[in-house]
Amino acid sequence: MNNLLNVYNQLDMEVSKAEGNNIWDTNGNKYIDFFSGISVTNLGHRPKEVIKAIEGALAQYMHISNIFPEKYQKELAGLLVEKTMPESKVFFSNSGAEANECAIKVARKFFDGEKFKIITFKNSFHGRTLATLAATGQSKFRKGFGPVVEGFDHLDFNFLATVEENITPETAAIMVEPIQGEGGINVGTKEFMEGLRKLCDEKKILLISDEIQTGMGRTGKFLGIDNYGIEADIVTLGKALGGGLPLAATLIKDKVASCMEPGDHGSTFGGNPVSCAAGLAAVNAIDDDMLENVAKKGKIFRAGLEGLTSRHETIKEVRGKGLMLGMELNFKGAGMVKYLQENGFIANCTRERVLRFLPPFTIRKSEIDSLIDCIDKYFKERG
Ligand SMILES: Cc1ncc(COP(=O)(O)O)c(C=O)c1O
Repeated sequence: MNNLLNVYNQLDMEVSKAEGNNIWDTNGNKYIDFFSGISVTNLGHRPKEVIKAIEGALAQYMHISNIFPEKYQKELAGLLVEKTMPESKVFFSNSGAEANECAIKVARKFFDGEKFKIITFKNSFHGRTLATLAATGQSKFRKGFGPVVEGFDHLDFNFLATVEENITPETAAIMVEPIQGEGGINVGTKEFMEGLRKLCDEKKILLISDEIQTGMGRTGKFLGIDNYGIEADIVTLGKALGGGLPLAATLIKDKVASCMEPGDHGSTFGGNPVSCAAGLAAVNAIDDDMLENVAKKGKIFRAGLEGLTSRHETIKEVRGKGLMLGMELNFKGAGMVKYLQENGFIANCTRERVLRFLPPFTIRKSEIDSLIDCIDKYFKERG
């Protein structure tokens, strides 16, 4: 008897243990994890420094409430601002959707009701709450959940001219994933991302970078937007931020953040001290060496996948940056995900045809090579 709400397509395996780059099932089979819990366990499973930080915080307190000033929160906020956007404020929440919800509310409040529309992009994914569902550029996620929250325009990704044409006096912000994750690993072009920043400056509207999947070093830079040499006005982080615990953040430039006052927003658990202590350890772990390693491993991985493309014509394209890679197939990828699982690899398929790889940053070249060999074997066996 399973009493869980039936909303997930789950793998037919039960996990008994997860450590480093590996997951074990209850039958004792070992898998190499190329999924990282959708880019959460970026430092591998159960990283020592995160566990130590959690234990340290737990020895003091577990939950105290945002009615108290709290040191782990303050320290983590300071560190995030230092690493990303100087002169910013941070709001902590528990999930990516909540971080984006806060970004949307702040953008609307900043313009005091005069501007309320947010431009987002087709194939984007911003979360499952009602506003972030409305922001998401894939209508399938909204089916059955209407009426849809008003005020979101979904435009073509990587088409700057359309964006310019669609900015109206009601437009408050543009919200973008520098690389669309759930949408199939679609990389924003340099011209597009730079153009968005320029348009936001010209029209005096806000640029929101949804870094829930691209942030925390995943692309070889701390933020995905850092690949373009531009800065957003609001950045959202989640997934890997808590080192494996639930934690998300909305970073807001001071000039925008000043519109928010006590009582305007809040969360019971947001910025939980244990999660923030874990987050401090996770963020501190992402130093320049680690970012360089992500970029280097990403190039090796990508070259391996591209090598397959030249041998197998049913591979349409390899895309991505750093260790956020996608391989688009000419056929549905569910069978390949299953084959990989049977051969000891955890990966996933998004938008039906894009195999998505989000390995931990600790992934070894030998592990990448073994995955490439397994994919090659799949094509040789299955055509
Ligand atoms: C870019 C992006 N934004 C927002 C979200 C929503 O995050 P959460 O599931 O933590 O609410 C996701 C989740 O996959 C995401 O990839």
